[in-house]
Amino acid sequence: MIKKESPYKSHLFICAKSRDGKRKSCGDLGNPELKSVLKDAVKDRGWKGQVRVSESSCLGVCEAGPNIMIYPQQIWLADVSINDVPEIMNTLEECIGE
Ligand code: FES
Repeated sequence: MIKKESPYKSHLFICAKSRDGKRKSCGDLGNPELKSVLKDAVKDRGWKGQVRVSESSCLGVCEAGPNIMIYPQQIWLADVSINDVPEIMNTLEECIGE
């Protein structure tokens, strides 16, 4: 193993876990386009290389979903919808100090 510092100021994890409707899960409730919309917004702001947008599996807080978590700032965004993208970008702006 080689231990390194993350190259990103912020890494945003979008929970994409699906349980096929058997139990509440972000992947069943969220908009499948959210990741691409966020990635485009990050790119449009010139933050590529500073901010990484990734899908994750379950973040452990399913009942509050759809969920996003931002590290290393330890920010949890619950009940997220595609309409929240401008506010998410404002949050990221604060995170990276732009
Ligand atoms: S399914 Fe998203 S937090 Fe568990």
